Amino acid sequence: MNIVCVAGARPNFVKIAPILGALEANDAVNATLVHTGQHYDQAMSQVFFDELGLRSPDHFLGAGSGTHAEQTAAVMVAFEAILNDHQADALVVVGDVNSTVATAMVGAKAGLMVCHVEAGLRSRDWAMPEEINRVVTDRLSDLLLAPSADAVDNLKAEGYRPDQIHLVGNVMIDTLLTHLGTARERNVAARLGLAERFGVVTLHRPSNVDDPDTLDGLITALAKLSAVVPLVFPAHPRTIRLLENLKDRCDPRNLKLIDPLGYLDFLSLVDASALVLTDSGGVQEETTVLGVPCLTLRESTERPITVTEGTNRVVGTEPTRIIEAAQDALSRPATPTQPHGWDGKAASRCVDVIIETLQIADRPRPTDAIRDIDA
Ligand code: UD1
Ligand code: UDP
Repeated sequence: MNIVCVAGARPNFVKIAPILGALEANDAVNATLVHTGQHYDQAMSQVFFDELGLRSPDHFLGAGSGTHAEQTAAVMVAFEAILNDHQADALVVVGDVNSTVATAMVGAKAGLMVCHVEAGLRSRDWAMPEEINRVVTDRLSDLLLAPSADAVDNLKAEGYRPDQIHLVGNVMIDTLLTHLGTARERNVAARLGLAERFGVVTLHRPSNVDDPDTLDGLITALAKLSAVVPLVFPAHPRTIRLLENLKDRCDPRNLKLIDPLGYLDFLSLVDASALVLTDSGGVQEETTVLGVPCLTLRESTERPITVTEGTNRVVGTEPTRIIEAAQDALSRPATPTQPHGWDGKAASRCVDVIIETLQIADRPRPTDAIRDIDA
């Protein structure tokens, strides 16, 4: 079985690592790894390959940055050329980035069995580019590998056939559980000279960092909060550029603005922290498992299980509300939780489903998904 796996951006590397490992452990599988090049800085790409034990990609598409159309199109054109040279049976895509939807589109039209890992998450915010990517990727996919029961419910409500949907759990947590011990030995907080109690910030959503008023309000909140609890902010490259004119408003002793961290350093830092303020999807999940209070600085989340079962609260972007929620979170102990299937075995469940489905000659196709109104 020839199975092509795609990764292109920071969170993709964290998700694909355990899947590639599980595929390569199966003698019947020949796995090909494609890196689209959506993320390319050392700190956004290579460090994940080094730290997660990901082998070098078989193909690097070099798509790079650009507008949505430029980036999506660059991935599609380069990926189609790769597929033309492969007798692939299946395509595995993860998450919700432009590389995910671009390669799913090409794979579906090439007749591959498209498998979406992290299917069914919905923020219901159509202004989020990732929401468009999620919905379209699911529609292009034969197999919908869902991380949580809410994602399964979303897919059922959208009319997907039950045999397409599989609750497999969370592959990002597989990676976390594999590397947590090593990360804890790094003691990054001490290396960065942080106080015993500190908070971690990450921001990169366009709705937060590309909108000057929203970013201004967020910096106001962070500057005030950092007088209560020191904060460290490993800033995404998109965000670093935009923070240039705002960083003078923060006391650098209380709010440390640093470059993006590698996976192990970031995990070590979050694990040791008292609070996380973020707009990241993956970080909402990781804080749930680590038992670190998380404030999501957005109006919605596509990961509601991190709120209902975990440590997450969706608090929006208004400064007063953020500061109140942070003070409240700091005053309450949080406990680690592992939602169903967030147990370190999600990737092997994904691979079992993929292989079993590939072995069925007359496998279901997404075009069969339209239901009779009386069915
Ligand atoms: C992308 C994903 C987002 C995901 C995030 C993870 C889409 C639509 N967005 O957002 O869902 O949460 O990755 O981090 O796919 N840049 C660099 N170096 C790099 C990569 C990017 O400097 O290695 C800069 C470039 O100026 C680029 C900007 O960051 O224009 C944005 O990069 P891009 O991949 O387009 O989107 P992200 O904001 O990273
Ligand atoms: N991460 C990292 N270094 C950082 C910030 C995040 O290694 O400085 C990791 C984080 O632990 C998680 C992933 O990157 O595994 C999340 O990626 P990101 O927040 O960029 O994307 P999202 O999850 O929002 O799509």
